[in-house]
Amino acid sequence: MVLCQCLSVPKGSANKILSYLLKKDLVRKDLKIRDDGEYVYIPVREGTDLKGTTMLVLEFQERDLPISPVESINLKLGEMGIKDRFPEKYTKLGNSLFIKEGRLPRFPKKVFLMAAREFHASAIYLDRGISESPLREPDATLIWGKEGELTHEENGVLYTFDPTKVMFSPGNVNSRVGESRGEFNGMAVVDMFAGIGYFTLQIAKGSPLAKIYACELNPISFSFLMHNVRKNKMEDRITLLPGDCRSTTMGIKADYILMGHFDSPNFLSTALRISHMGTVINMHLLCDTNSINSHWYRIMESARHLGYALDFLGQNIVKSYGPHLWHVSAKFVVLRML
Ligand SMILES: C[S@@+](CC[C@H](N)C(=O)[O-])C[C@H]1O[C@@H](n2cnc3c(N)ncnc32)[C@H](O)[C@@H]1O
Repeated sequence: MVLCQCLSVPKGSANKILSYLLKKDLVRKDLKIRDDGEYVYIPVREGTDLKGTTMLVLEFQERDLPISPVESINLKLGEMGIKDRFPEKYTKLGNSLFIKEGRLPRFPKKVFLMAAREFHASAIYLDRGISESPLREPDATLIWGKEGELTHEENGVLYTFDPTKVMFSPGNVNSRVGESRGEFNGMAVVDMFAGIGYFTLQIAKGSPLAKIYACELNPISFSFLMHNVRKNKMEDRITLLPGDCRSTTMGIKADYILMGHFDSPNFLSTALRISHMGTVINMHLLCDTNSINSHWYRIMESARHLGYALDFLGQNIVKSYGPHLWHVSAKFVVLRML
């Protein structure tokens, strides 16, 4: 049992007050809330003062459930007399922690050491996003620990990369894992923008009998791609094509084409050139809210100009990409050459 100050609130209003306190991060989540049938006793952080409520000091049982790393860090920050809170939102890839710029207060170094221990991380990076340039380079700066390659596991696939040199988008996890469903055995698959193998490796895992061609222009990403194919023991099903997919795909006929780059509409002619009747093309692109239910007409129109008829099969929203902007993955089937 632990002695702690608490708010004594009538049972009827307890939920409302609790959600307010949780929003303000004032609740001691490491202690169990008490309830005597008439009143609820919410253990709170030192210094909490809510007008119109009664403050008591009572004994509380410690919670059995382990508290989250952020909760634990925040408790320690309180004990250290630091008012700022550690960000609730973060990404952990391999043994590295990524925190978006703007979310992280100016903490002394010892806070990062403590955070690294809580997260079992060996590096903490400030994440400023991914460039809009064709090579989609990341902007990540080390703020604590040791910089360098990391290995991240997703759906049984190992991805090794250096987060200061190549991107990895955690928000695309469902799209990546979706490609592992195993529907490509016996098919020729072309990943026109393979990066370090984001989609290629999941397709190869789910469909070991697929013949996959992975194109990558950036030499740094390509060397990680090569490493990842070997590390996941998938050399038998993946052909690596370094360079620009507009030329490296010459002569290939694909049953399924993956275009994991926001500029994919500008590469439609390449996809169509390597297609046949029945080829499915999966295009990742950015689209605003106004055109979310119509943007595919533009792509079908472009295909018509290039002498192909496409049918729209459907789309998935991968994630929000900013105000009124969406990352979508839209699927088309090649019906015929006009
Ligand atoms: C956006 S990244 C891959 C993203 C990944 N599919 C995802 O959504 O997480 C796109 C990759 O395409 C590569 N790329 C850009 N232009 C290319 C081209 N013309 N041919 C081959 N690869 C290209 C970039 O170097 C980059 O690694």
